[in-house]
Amino acid sequence: MVKFVVVAGSASKDLAKRIARRLKAPYIEAQTKIFPDGESKITFGRVPKKSAIIVVQSTYPPVDTNLLQALSIISEARKSSSKIYAIIPYMGYARQDKQFLSGEVITMSIVAKMIQVAGATKVIFVDIHSKTALNHFKIRTENVSAIPELAKYFKKIKLKNPLVVSPDTGGSLRAKKFAGLLNTDFITLKKSRNRKTGKVQIQSSKVDVNGRDLIVIDDIVSTGGSVVKATQFLKRQKCKRVFVTCTHGLFVGDAEKKIKKAGVSQIISTNTIPRSTSKVDISGVIAKSIQ
Ligand code: R5P
Repeated sequence: MVKFVVVAGSASKDLAKRIARRLKAPYIEAQTKIFPDGESKITFGRVPKKSAIIVVQSTYPPVDTNLLQALSIISEARKSSSKIYAIIPYMGYARQDKQFLSGEVITMSIVAKMIQVAGATKVIFVDIHSKTALNHFKIRTENVSAIPELAKYFKKIKLKNPLVVSPDTGGSLRAKKFAGLLNTDFITLKKSRNRKTGKVQIQSSKVDVNGRDLIVIDDIVSTGGSVVKATQFLKRQKCKRVFVTCTHGLFVGDAEKKIKKAGVSQIISTNTIPRSTSKVDISGVIAKSIQ
């Protein structure tokens, strides 16, 4: 009998393969076909009975499609095992964990219910946007951090008097942890976002970054608005180079281009979302949380 079997959804094949390798577990790929109307058809082979099944599927865009695929795979896997670990490295909808404006639906709570009803017995995330999102689950959850892995990457780069920057107060603890691992200091900028238009503004006044290499760290880079505004602000303060790093590089539309245009030297993300910037592998962190 094998202890674990790893089943990969279409959004996380490479990451799932790496996790399976680390756990020395059989790897099964869910075959996915998208019909012309957008529906997914999923097929996967027989799973050894009595093994715990690890389903790996990130829910980056197309978010709803990837989410429904995750639910379908979890539900099918549950027929072969009573122990289903749902690994959702990037959890879409985690930013909709509470009401910001009256009338808003808290979609994260619906998503949590669906994952549970599908048959997951434990869910593992990587740097989920907020701990509030975890409270919507009635099953076991674990949130692992990619910050130490990102720090290991930056330790290998020769930086001039580095300073870590959080683009907003919500990311302050993240920046503090990252800076601690790099043995350096950090600052937090003040960002405001118009809840209706989504536009961001940096409201900080002067910061002392003259001649220093800066690492702007966020959990998610989506449109790039936050890191672009932060970079433009920091460049005006005569810093040296600006690096941007994040756990989840969504980079919707031309986000990457906009970030580069703002003067960012390098963008580094993890492989929770496979992108050209995914230089940091978090399969080890995930595998460790399972063993
Ligand atoms: C917001 O609270 C998050 O931590 C990120 O700062 C945000 O999701 C980034 O979005 P964008 O790249 O669209 O500014």
